[in-house]
Amino acid sequence: MKHTKIIDLLSGKGLLHEVKAKGWVKTFRNNQFIALNDGSTINNLQCVIDLDKFPAEQLKKIHTGAAISVRGTLIESKGAGQSVEIQVEHLKIYGEANPEEFPIQPKKHSLEFLRENAHLRIRTNVFGAIMRVRSTLAFAVHKYFQENGFFYFNAPIITGSDAEGAGEMFRVTALDLNNLPKDEEGKVDVREDFFGKTTNLTVSGQLEAETYAMALGSVYTFGPTFRAENSNTSRHLAEFWMIEPEVAFINLDENMDLAEDFIKYVIRYTLDKCKDDLVFLDKRLTEEEKNKPQAERSDMSLLNKLNFVLDNNFKRVSYTEAIDILKGSKPNRNKKFKYLIEDWGADLQSEHERYLVEKHFKCPVILFDYPADIKAFYMRMNEDGKTVRAMDILFPGIGEIVGGSQREERYDVLLEKIRTMGIDEKELWWYLDTRKFGTAPHSGFGLGFERLVLFVTGMTNIRDVIPFPRTPQNAEF
Ligand code: 4AD
Ligand code: MG
Repeated sequence: MKHTKIIDLLSGKGLLHEVKAKGWVKTFRNNQFIALNDGSTINNLQCVIDLDKFPAEQLKKIHTGAAISVRGTLIESKGAGQSVEIQVEHLKIYGEANPEEFPIQPKKHSLEFLRENAHLRIRTNVFGAIMRVRSTLAFAVHKYFQENGFFYFNAPIITGSDAEGAGEMFRVTALDLNNLPKDEEGKVDVREDFFGKTTNLTVSGQLEAETYAMALGSVYTFGPTFRAENSNTSRHLAEFWMIEPEVAFINLDENMDLAEDFIKYVIRYTLDKCKDDLVFLDKRLTEEEKNKPQAERSDMSLLNKLNFVLDNNFKRVSYTEAIDILKGSKPNRNKKFKYLIEDWGADLQSEHERYLVEKHFKCPVILFDYPADIKAFYMRMNEDGKTVRAMDILFPGIGEIVGGSQREERYDVLLEKIRTMGIDEKELWWYLDTRKFGTAPHSGFGLGFERLVLFVTGMTNIRDVIPFPRTPQNAEF
């Protein structure tokens, strides 16, 4: 007999029939009630055991975490809290979980403790909910683009270019580090390496995606990206997933429209598909907030925040306006910011972004037209000669969630920029070719997938929304 997913049993499939369920024990109460979970839903199936029917030896093996199979009749439940339950007639134990050793016990564990047990934390309600939401969001990403005429483009993971020009890259090499080949000058001879040149893990698939947008029209990437930035924050990972749409013949305003529509779509889709998980995460956040001082508590619950984003337009503000607001802001005048805003041209830190979003506008904000000096080489220069057509989308509690721009499509302007920024133009010959042959205005952006998952789940540390986080000094599992 095949087993049925608990999510289906709970919705009444097989009612009054003999059914089989398999999963892991959450709790075993009074030697009579097993709460069984198989990961298909946050909700457990109540399995009712008739003590006399089963040997005590067998029942002794049922502990939190054990894997079991139960067979019996699915009946309507008289108990509160569930609609159906299974009257167990057959019970099989696949694997026990010794309560003296199994770290995940039915009590509250700290997120730090669970991070150290990332291979088992998925057995908890909270991580089950987060990872189902993450999976649903990923599906929604593909669904949105596929239904809107975009093609899925797979950017290479190993690259010879530094797309962001930030130099925070992981080197890829097959050389023996204990016996490095040297050139005439005594430097490491990369010609002897696997690719015959210096290679890195990609920091962004954008440059390659641009070449595809210049033929397929609308493309998107969705894959892992790597940054060796030594920022030990709750918003940074060394390995994270990024979604990068790139579209021919659209300008920055249309790029903003796309980003806003896309983000709202995936949130709406997930709200609809993951109701039970989000209700659970909403309660979790409310509980957690109770431990915070009143002033730090959010005035909206998780579900309210998600709906708020759906119901309101993102506020579009130029960098110059934002600087004026920040300059005159209370924390700037009272020297409360770590980095005080004095002049136009300053790079915005997360404290400034969060002030704009959380205190000033109190809604998602799209900042645009940044100083050219603080942005990447590929962004389109404005008529003023000092700002570029860049945009960042800032979210409450998160800060920057999207970075994007209209690209510099004019060959001469781009080449000049590459030279003045001291970038090796020889490495970018293929990128420059797109501007030589059939160049056209085009735009795109990158959304950090984990930052989106953070926002939607109401979690506060990015390490808790990716299965096995990679951060400085940590690559366990
Ligand atoms: O702003 P970034 O660096 O932009 C780019 O990489 C462009 N090439 C995107 C494009 O236009 N196609 O990164 C984009 C987003 C950020 O807004 C942030 O959400 C996320 O990627 N991100 C990170 N997420 C987690 N950990 C990190 N270390 C991240 N760095 C960036
Ligand atoms: Mg950015």
